[in-house]
Amino acid sequence: MQHLTIAFIGGGNMAEALISGLMKGGHPAAKICVADPVGTRCEFLRETYGTVIAVDNAEAAACADLLVLAVKPQQMQKVAATLGASLKEEATVISIAAGVRLGSIAEWLGVACHVVRVMPNTPALVGAGMSVLYSEASDFYRQRASYLMQASGAVEWVDSEQQMHAVTALSGSGPAYFFLLAEVMQATGVALGLSETLAGKLATQTAFGAGKIMVESGRTPSALRQQVSSPGGTTLAALDVMLEQGLPDTVRAALTAASKRSQELAA
Ligand SMILES: NC(=O)c1ccc[n+]([C@@H]2O[C@H](COP(=O)([O-])OP(=O)(O)OC[C@H]3O[C@@H](n4cnc5c(N)ncnc54)[C@H](OP(=O)(O)O)[C@@H]3O)[C@@H](O)[C@H]2O)c1
Repeated sequence: MQHLTIAFIGGGNMAEALISGLMKGGHPAAKICVADPVGTRCEFLRETYGTVIAVDNAEAAACADLLVLAVKPQQMQKVAATLGASLKEEATVISIAAGVRLGSIAEWLGVACHVVRVMPNTPALVGAGMSVLYSEASDFYRQRASYLMQASGAVEWVDSEQQMHAVTALSGSGPAYFFLLAEVMQATGVALGLSETLAGKLATQTAFGAGKIMVESGRTPSALRQQVSSPGGTTLAALDVMLEQGLPDTVRAALTAASKRSQELAA
């Protein structure tokens, strides 16, 4: 994969996360190109990541083995419509735009092409992302998409585009649920007598540690919860309140609402 030219249309947060992942992972492509209307953004990426080359959209499409569409969903139709004619025949086109269907991308590009749809999440910015991919293209194109997304974290595939709504509700929007929990834990720590700084540190480091142990232990969240819930102890006192006051129902309703909203927004 090292010989690939990877071009980004849009050099914003997600593009930077992927470029950073490629460079830090020690698997830089031979060439990374970025097209972004803000010249200083390209300059920042070039200064920070070295090998990045600033191009315009048509040049990016013409040189790319992997073309990453990293603009906002509402910009996608206009942007894609200008790229199709320049695409290489064997290019893999990756859309990371939330809610934009595979068929819409192909239609807007207006040419026969190999498109992969990805739902990443914000921890990609620190190399701990969860990206879920869907495509109807062959393995050749799918492997290239996996290669790129693995640079910023874990990768899974779904075999039905409909599942992308559930993915959006779970991992796409999911970081915010943990942020809310940490926020409330911090505020309660302050109410219980800690300084805001200390309470914030305790909440965020605890979230980090809990996440790390869930990923690295190979044990289920349920098993880990039971392991730390001694009868008569403080943890069980808290968990009993969470269960009695309906936290599981709240979380179920919240994810269902996110999935429904994803279906409403689908373009
Ligand atoms: N951030 C996330 O956590 C996250 C998670 C899942 C999915 N996504 C998806 O990732 C995509 C990018 O998100 P982001 O957070 O990286 O957005 P972002 O930071 O706003 O980046 C988008 C970039 O595209 C540029 N752009 C706008 N029009 C363009 C054009 N015609 N040609 C080339 N570049 C153009 C924008 O420039 P201007 O600022 O000048 O408009 C901006 O620099 C979105 O579709 C989003 O749905 C993001």
